Amino acid sequence: MIAHVTALPLVVGHRGASGHRPEHTLASYRLAARMGADIIEPDLVSTQDGVLVARHENEISGTTDVASHPEFADRHCTKVVGGREVTGWFTEDFTLAELRTLRAVERCPDLRPDNTRYDGLWAVPTLDEICALVHHESRRAGRRIGIYPETKHPSYFASIGLPLEGTMLEVLARHRLDGPGGRAYLQSFEEGNLRELAGRTESPLVQLLGADAEVDVARVATYAQVLGVHKSLVTPGLVAEAHAAGLAVHAWTLRAELVPDPYAEVRELLDAGVDGLFSDQPGLTVQARSEWLSLQERTG
Ligand code: G3P
Ligand code: CA
Repeated sequence: MIAHVTALPLVVGHRGASGHRPEHTLASYRLAARMGADIIEPDLVSTQDGVLVARHENEISGTTDVASHPEFADRHCTKVVGGREVTGWFTEDFTLAELRTLRAVERCPDLRPDNTRYDGLWAVPTLDEICALVHHESRRAGRRIGIYPETKHPSYFASIGLPLEGTMLEVLARHRLDGPGGRAYLQSFEEGNLRELAGRTESPLVQLLGADAEVDVARVATYAQVLGVHKSLVTPGLVAEAHAAGLAVHAWTLRAELVPDPYAEVRELLDAGVDGLFSDQPGLTVQARSEWLSLQERTG
């Protein structure tokens, strides 16, 4: 038995239920939990005063109303982040109190026009608040909901004196979510900070690999417990190789609007043997998983 292969393939609420609400808001995470997601996914970046908040990237012009705040106009700038030149407003230039004056907006208004009705309603949440929500929703649902944080641009944040890892572990530990028991999965695209985390936590570590990545299963197995792969990389052969090396396989990201048959996509990935699915529509994915499990039972 591989340590982090769960009895049921996990459904991860990707950025909450981001197909239905602006991503990385408490409303999005809450809806994911109420749709039956096993675990919710915040991407983490830092404020100037070292507080971890949930945003997909530290540049926030696409996910908040910062551009309409004249008092922050002079913070608009260009930086190099992860080897790329990026222009906009950056979380590390705002204190938490300043960031809290902003409101979240839908990242993909063309793809998800219905979500724009929520623009301007909700603040950027802290990791601390998300952990509290996990406990509240777990009590409400009578099941243990997990948390699946991703450190975003960890080398960059370390280089500006705002390392993410220690603060993330401290907050998770304070909420009793870190450590044995599998309630937190910690993910990163960077190998370096996962290797560092390996010496500091017993929570499973997830090496993220993009669609163009070289997959070196044996190497990842030396420091992580899960291959978090772009769904296009999933084949039954890769899953078998990962399982043989003791790694679970989680695939990202299911976006119902972008495929002709989202139920068929879930079936194909589960048939290939994956152990977890990141989904923007976790309710649909939970339903598709139930149908797949029923079919498995009927066909033995
Ligand atoms: O963390 C899994 C998946 O979310 C990775 O891609 O860019 O959506 O954070 P991204
Ligand atoms: Ca992510």
